[in-house]
Amino acid sequence: MTGSDLPSLATPIPGPRSRGAVEILARHECPAITARRSRRADQIGADNDDPIVWDEALGANVRDVDGNIHVDLSSGFGVALLGHRHPEVVAAAQRQASRLIHAMGDAFPDARRIALLEALAGIAPAGLDVAILGLSGSDAVDAAVKTAVLATGRTGVIVVQRGYHGLALGVLGLQTTSPAFTEPFRALVHPEVRALPSGCSLADLKAALPGVGLVLLEPVQGRGGMHSLPDDWIEEVAFAARSQGALVAFDEIQSGMGRTGSMWAGPIAPDLLCVGKALAGGFPLSACLGTGEAMAAWGLSTGEALHTQTFLGHPVGCAAALAVIHVTARDGVPERCRALGSTWRARLENAGFPARGRGLMLGVELGRGALAVSRALGRRGWIALPAGPTSLGLTPSVCVDEPLIDAFVDSLRTVCA
Ligand SMILES: Cc1ncc(COP(=O)(O)O)c(C=O)c1O
Repeated sequence: MTGSDLPSLATPIPGPRSRGAVEILARHECPAITARRSRRADQIGADNDDPIVWDEALGANVRDVDGNIHVDLSSGFGVALLGHRHPEVVAAAQRQASRLIHAMGDAFPDARRIALLEALAGIAPAGLDVAILGLSGSDAVDAAVKTAVLATGRTGVIVVQRGYHGLALGVLGLQTTSPAFTEPFRALVHPEVRALPSGCSLADLKAALPGVGLVLLEPVQGRGGMHSLPDDWIEEVAFAARSQGALVAFDEIQSGMGRTGSMWAGPIAPDLLCVGKALAGGFPLSACLGTGEAMAAWGLSTGEALHTQTFLGHPVGCAAALAVIHVTARDGVPERCRALGSTWRARLENAGFPARGRGLMLGVELGRGALAVSRALGRRGWIALPAGPTSLGLTPSVCVDEPLIDAFVDSLRTVCA
């Protein structure tokens, strides 16, 4: 496996080892987590839509437990922007693990965490030089909501329809991609969330602002279908929100770290910026970056931190993130995303598939059920997830080069013929 291999399949997908392993999974994992469409282990090929079980990944490739090689066009939910198992990320994590795996959250920092906080201040939009680290995207958004409450004294939040900000209970009420996520927990979710349509009028925005401490925008909405919010609308919303004393946060958990062709997708510096996914190249790490003024609202720690967690600033994740930041700047990752994004769009559009999004964050309109197309592609060794009912979301790594793009577009054409 080179990291840029074409799909190479030795068994039907899923293969027998994957099917056997998923049988065990189904016995021991909460059934809501991994989708299983077949209920009999002897079903194969088109009759079996169980997932493949991953064994190894490198660059754009994933090898499953049956030895089949796949191409991951999601880059593991957008995490492996530099490619799976980037050698410098692996080396940094190995070095750190052999020295110090765990420090003590708010009680005792370690050198990697301090270096990362300084590095984050260096890549953040102007003025966002203070951070709260977390482990997941949900953690980062949770920290943004809490910061806004402390900084403004107001608990209301404005979000944009089709936005996704994670499923942890503190942030669940902010997502509007699917009511099914929220409905069973309705009594427990944030009670003061107003979801406005993208591009809504300033009058509608102003009417929603009283009591609002945070306006949370995803400059390119990922899970909601790879829709870019218009830059001038974002700027108008930010201006109106700030003039009413609310903070503006950008959720760049999926769009950040260069994926859209620039380091950050938002057109201006917000008050708070959430980053995760690609930040540590595969290690669970996230951050809510903020202005010193917004973060000062937390006050000083008196020894009992108002916000922390056991694994805050995990040293191995911090070391991996430092490597990612270094490689991103040295290799011109944002510029590569922009160039590859143009190639993707041109190839897709030439083949009759309208594409939207920015850089390597693409939505492909199929005009038919995306789940069935995603599964048919999966049986040919292409990992590509739906982003909405009729579109495919592509968040490939920078390792997916032209021969792979061409081969994928051919497969997509065949599957949709
Ligand atoms: C824009 C955005 N925000 C937040 C999240 C939640 O991140 P996590 O799943 O790491 O909690 C995601 C995950 O897909 C996301 O795309």
